[in-house]
Amino acid sequence: MQNELLKKFGELFGADGDVRVYFAPGRVNMIGEHTDYNGGHVFPCALTIGTYGVVRKRTDKKLRFYSMNFEELGVIESSLDDLKPDPKADWTNYPKGVIWAFGEKGMTVTEGMDLLLYGNIPNGSGLSSSASVEVLTGYILKDYYGFDVTNQDIALIGQFSENKFNGVNCGIMDQFAIAMGKKGHAIFLDTATLEYTYAPIELADAKIVIACSNKKRGLGDSKYNERRSQCEAALADIQQVCGIQALGDLTEEQFEQCRNSIKDEVNAQRAKHAVYENQRTIQAVEALSKNDVATFGKLMNASHVSLRDDYEVTGIELDTLVENAWKVDGVIGSRMTGAGFGGCSVSIVKNDAVDTFIKQVGDAYEKKIGYAADFYVVEIGDGPARLA
Ligand code: GLA
Repeated sequence: MQNELLKKFGELFGADGDVRVYFAPGRVNMIGEHTDYNGGHVFPCALTIGTYGVVRKRTDKKLRFYSMNFEELGVIESSLDDLKPDPKADWTNYPKGVIWAFGEKGMTVTEGMDLLLYGNIPNGSGLSSSASVEVLTGYILKDYYGFDVTNQDIALIGQFSENKFNGVNCGIMDQFAIAMGKKGHAIFLDTATLEYTYAPIELADAKIVIACSNKKRGLGDSKYNERRSQCEAALADIQQVCGIQALGDLTEEQFEQCRNSIKDEVNAQRAKHAVYENQRTIQAVEALSKNDVATFGKLMNASHVSLRDDYEVTGIELDTLVENAWKVDGVIGSRMTGAGFGGCSVSIVKNDAVDTFIKQVGDAYEKKIGYAADFYVVEIGDGPARLA
């Protein structure tokens, strides 16, 4: 893999000088969906699939970008003097956004770069291919350019760039999961305080299987920002009667007591999801710590139902994947993962049921939706790294 990337880099930009290779993972969220911008908990993990970057620092201010996933776009040139979002919204807005965000935080990048990327995460699939590119860029600026930042800083700067440069009001989960990833562990993160613990995922007789719906979506044009506003409106109503900072501060009982203060019924439904999902996440991590994977799975299933009925971010593709997964013997839990509106499901499947799962869910999906889903049996990997 690395040799192929270096060869392509050499063809495009020349092989001389200090050419380096970096990697940043993708992520999957096990439970805790649409809680990260509501001051709640999330439980994601970094994957061993992700984005590879071959890079060389330049002495001028030019930026030259090339992605092997979008070869038809060719080399895309830009400059440090012109760090504005590209209205054509191609992928270079992610590295450019991070370089811009470093500048906004007082760390101005003065030397350009030649950067070739290759990602083996399906794009736009809910496995955070964009946050992976952001963290990769931030890590290059730390390791190669020498900016004094921690991996947690890289996550926060990545989120800032996504919010302010790319116009998606995402929470911190994706960038945090990627920048702070640890092999074999999920991250139990309190998004209100950024306190976190690593929880080992030891599934002796089961695997994590991701099913990609192949329904493309972009976060910017999805209803993501609308969901966020609905939660904010519900919170503002609740704050009239109860002094909380975020929906994540409430237990289910407390929410039911003040639910009537939310003026709009749809907003109340959205807030209910945020509150209950946060509590489910806390319970799920507790169950896992006692090795109770069965309870963890049941909470994953309940998470999907809530995302389908109350938060309304699943859609026919994800529902078809998940509802068919529930029918397969040996499936411990299954739910949509990521923002929704397309993207992927995540399932915990007993080892000896994985083949049946892929066949049965795959067939049912193609029959109903008209095109195939893709399946990935994944491993939990580390955060960003320099490879060469
Ligand atoms: C996207 C966002 C995250 C999070 C999830 C939903 O992945 O980038 O911040 O809100 O959706 O849980």
